[in-house]
Amino acid sequence: MSNETMYAMPRIGDTAPDFEAVTTTGKIKFSEFAKEKWTILFSHPADFTPVCTTEMSGFAIRKGEFEALNTELLGLSIDSIHSHLAWVNNVREKTGVYFSFPIIADIDMKVSKLYGMLQPNESETAAVRAVFFIDPAKKIRLIMYYPLNVGRNMDEILRALQALQFSDKHKVAMPLNWKKGEKVIIPAPKTLQALEERLADTTCEKVDFYLAKKMVEA
Ligand code: BEZ
Repeated sequence: MSNETMYAMPRIGDTAPDFEAVTTTGKIKFSEFAKEKWTILFSHPADFTPVCTTEMSGFAIRKGEFEALNTELLGLSIDSIHSHLAWVNNVREKTGVYFSFPIIADIDMKVSKLYGMLQPNESETAAVRAVFFIDPAKKIRLIMYYPLNVGRNMDEILRALQALQFSDKHKVAMPLNWKKGEKVIIPAPKTLQALEERLADTTCEKVDFYLAKKMVEA
């Protein structure tokens, strides 16, 4: 495969491409998966590899936190279903951690190519470490791509998911390093009158009219 090979790269705001796939919990059609819930669709390069094992274990250990955020996990790698089953069983035997969420066996690379997870200059045969945050309307809201040699940060994945959901609910934006329970950025005024009102507002922390933060209850 040449360095010039190009696969579709879904973008933020796109509808998540639909697909059918075999997973460790049975066949799925993505458009019917996780109805009315968020989905974290994530890829890993290969079963039975060390970084991937730490990452999958991280997802498994914190699955309850994703569920509390109305979110389903859906893993993927370019491995067979037999490899997935053997790996899940091996990790459970060795560490007691069980990957109970579905993992796609993308042996024909169909889903990897559809989601830009196959990046040939990094690897022609293994998916990069991608994370797609997909909302209940099946819209892609945030994308992370990591290379093969750097594991992801589970705190950041959960933080970003909380930030997206909090922003949707309260129509606010999140400043640098925002964490749940901290002040959020309220929308900048769009008229001169609103600007005057913002300048006079003593209930928010202001740098100027266009940068104001406020505590908003969850
Ligand atoms: C790993 O998960 O350890 C790994 C997988 C593929 C390439 C490099 C590292």
